[in-house]
Amino acid sequence: MDTTDQGKRDGFSSKFGIIAAAAGSAIGLGNIWRFPYVVGESGGGAFLLVYLGFVLVLGIPVMLSEFVIGRKTKSNAYGAFKKLAPRTAWPVVGIMGIVAAFVILAFYSTIAGWTLHYVYLSLTNAFQGKGTTDLTYIFEQFQVSGGLPLMWQLIFIVLTAIIILSGVKDGIEKYSKILMPFLLLLLIALSIRSVTLPNSFEGISFLFKPDFSKIDAGVILNALGQAFFSLSIGMGALITYSSYFPKDTNLSTTAFEVSIADVIIAILAGIAIFPAMFSLGMQPEEGGPGLIFMVLPNVFQQIPGGYFVSLAFFILLAIAALTSSISIMEVVVAFLVEEFKMKRRQGTVITAVAAAFIGVFCTLSWSTFEGVTFAGKNIFDTLDFAASNILLPLGGLLIVLFVGWYMKSVEVKEELSNSGALKIRLFSAFLFIIRFIAPVAIAIIFLNGIGFIK
Ligand code: PHE
Repeated sequence: MDTTDQGKRDGFSSKFGIIAAAAGSAIGLGNIWRFPYVVGESGGGAFLLVYLGFVLVLGIPVMLSEFVIGRKTKSNAYGAFKKLAPRTAWPVVGIMGIVAAFVILAFYSTIAGWTLHYVYLSLTNAFQGKGTTDLTYIFEQFQVSGGLPLMWQLIFIVLTAIIILSGVKDGIEKYSKILMPFLLLLLIALSIRSVTLPNSFEGISFLFKPDFSKIDAGVILNALGQAFFSLSIGMGALITYSSYFPKDTNLSTTAFEVSIADVIIAILAGIAIFPAMFSLGMQPEEGGPGLIFMVLPNVFQQIPGGYFVSLAFFILLAIAALTSSISIMEVVVAFLVEEFKMKRRQGTVITAVAAAFIGVFCTLSWSTFEGVTFAGKNIFDTLDFAASNILLPLGGLLIVLFVGWYMKSVEVKEELSNSGALKIRLFSAFLFIIRFIAPVAIAIIFLNGIGFIK
């Protein structure tokens, strides 16, 4: 990663380091915290199918387009557009990404802070002997308590900033490479326990049996937003990361592998949650953002060594959140360092302080600012909606239009094939998707979802 100030640019070293960094960005709270509760609110199986379709047909092409832009220009998200399309309005896409980065950092750090608190609760054995009612109470008391969640949020933002400053390549990536496989193992263990609980079958059928009567324009937009959020696309995080990729990285296989890993983790989180939820007699749309914090401690108690499983799970989830939040913060820091010639330290401090400022309002959405709502959504939900369902789809739309129509197709092919070193198959299919299918689909889903067209 770029650990130096302006001038010399550092990069990711090994092939595995690249996958680990990009997967580290993609895999995070989006998969384990957000995916289950959005599936719950959006009706289950049918949503899952639409979501998977979007990852495949829209997500992977957008990710690949970001890789092309980033690695070709070796610049931050704004600078990349400025290099490729000087004296045009295209760099605005980079600015949108920077705005999205602040918004996402603000609400992401709220949930990451909750995760840290749950590390503490696991450590002090606070779930021991507690049933669903008590666990819900513990969560809700914490959520509305104001000061405590704020403290954890600030700790999380400071941790993110420290990692950004210490240099990603030899810092967190090294550990996350070793730790993420453990998260996968834990999720598999939790899934097995969850499906073997009494009456868990209903949960499986909720997750996998599509009921298309539950699908409407809003649900489809949710699926698009979830796909983009979870894959880290549409705001330049992957433009920024791929600007650190070496010239011999195979962009197509990287995009493919990262997306598959991301989907697998999300589905496993779903299998860990829904059967347990039905087994506990909870309704799938009930949980909201607190879903995993209320349900999983139940499951931990029904596992041998649950104390350690719980502790390990929340620690690993916090680390997964960190490897995502650094990729979000890096969008802004790379921009400030490269475009305003700031020192890395200065850029990081400014970004962290600004994110923390907006973040306070998110965290206090259920307490101090409970009464502040926009179209029935509190501040937290409003910012999540604005980022995931508006800024990311719009960003993704502009990114595919840029690569599909503004860039020359020989240039794109040159980048994807590493100047001819790789044989690329399906190039015309890719071009067709980013020129026609993806822009039209995203535009229709977006306009429909916000109620602009019917
Ligand atoms: N994809 C990350 C997650 O699932 C969140 C993220 C969104 C990261 C946008 C970067 C950009 O947790």
